[in-house]
Amino acid sequence: MLTAGGDCPGLNAVIRAITRSAAARGDEAVGIMRGYRGLAERDYVDLDARSVSGILPLGGTILRTSSFEPVAEGAVDRVAAAFAEDRLDAVIAIGGEHTMEITRMLHEDEGLPLIGVPKTIDNDIVGTDFTFGFDTAVHVVMEAIDRLHTTAQSHDRLMVVEVMGRNAGWIALYGGLAGGADGIVIPEVDTTCEELAAAVTRRHDRGKSFSIIVVAEGANLAFASGEVRQVRVSEETDEYGYERLGGIGAALATELEAMTGYEARTVVLGHVQRGGTPTAHDRILATRYGAAAYELAAAGRFGRMVSLRGSEIDSVPLSEVRGIKTVDLDLLGIAKRFFA
Ligand code: F6P
Repeated sequence: MLTAGGDCPGLNAVIRAITRSAAARGDEAVGIMRGYRGLAERDYVDLDARSVSGILPLGGTILRTSSFEPVAEGAVDRVAAAFAEDRLDAVIAIGGEHTMEITRMLHEDEGLPLIGVPKTIDNDIVGTDFTFGFDTAVHVVMEAIDRLHTTAQSHDRLMVVEVMGRNAGWIALYGGLAGGADGIVIPEVDTTCEELAAAVTRRHDRGKSFSIIVVAEGANLAFASGEVRQVRVSEETDEYGYERLGGIGAALATELEAMTGYEARTVVLGHVQRGGTPTAHDRILATRYGAAAYELAAAGRFGRMVSLRGSEIDSVPLSEVRGIKTVDLDLLGIAKRFFA
């Protein structure tokens, strides 16, 4: 098994579940270090009940992670050789949307026996209702909003909370709903600064002295004039060619302060949302995913990703895991009932 892409709480719970499931059937479990890089470089660690003992509550991944991309790195032959020479019967790749894409390509084009497990705090992977890591991130956002209420109220301030969510606003929407935010801005919908300023002003006119707006890092800064600006922390891109996001919170706070006249502050929650111990929900989901991934491997059902459908664990062909799963806009409609 390997963990690839950005980490998230619950990865160790998956590793533990696969290892224990394999041990129970007398199969040998091997950890591949740093994602697909470890497969190309044959960097392995033996895993058994003992080595995964005590890791359930740990955030991050004991196998480390990387964004190594075998196709782009010209390492496909090395990866295929690892399967043949090291007698790997199956590899379970635990990762985000990009890792699922690599896993699909290696399975379809090279015939490698691969299975996917979806992880991301962003909850934006197609083919599953929820990914583990998301619930933990939402809890972090909710707690932050709870804390910000008291300080915002004491100072009659407008607080803008920037949360993660590159392509989809799941964390902003769920975190905002759970924390009782007064405005939620997500990448899927260009909410204008004027709309937000009007809502904040209405709220303050009704006697409230503070407001809390949650904005996803991938949201745009939109104006009633029709102008839509993308705010980025820098022009740099990461290894996937993704832009480095960040800064929308501060930009929005500046606009809202100017439009409403209320003093504004920005809080960027950043990687705090990805760290620390997983919630009970994420530990259980990750454990169920790990157990199901092992079952798929044992049954030789390769080229599939484990998934959650309602309350049932299922699986989908990796070929169907394409694009981004965006938020349920009906839920945003409900959240809006609580805005001024
Ligand atoms: O995909 C998860 C995520 O946390 C995104 O929300 C965010 O844009 C990105 O990872 C940040 O990645 P990095 O660790 O490279 O800063």
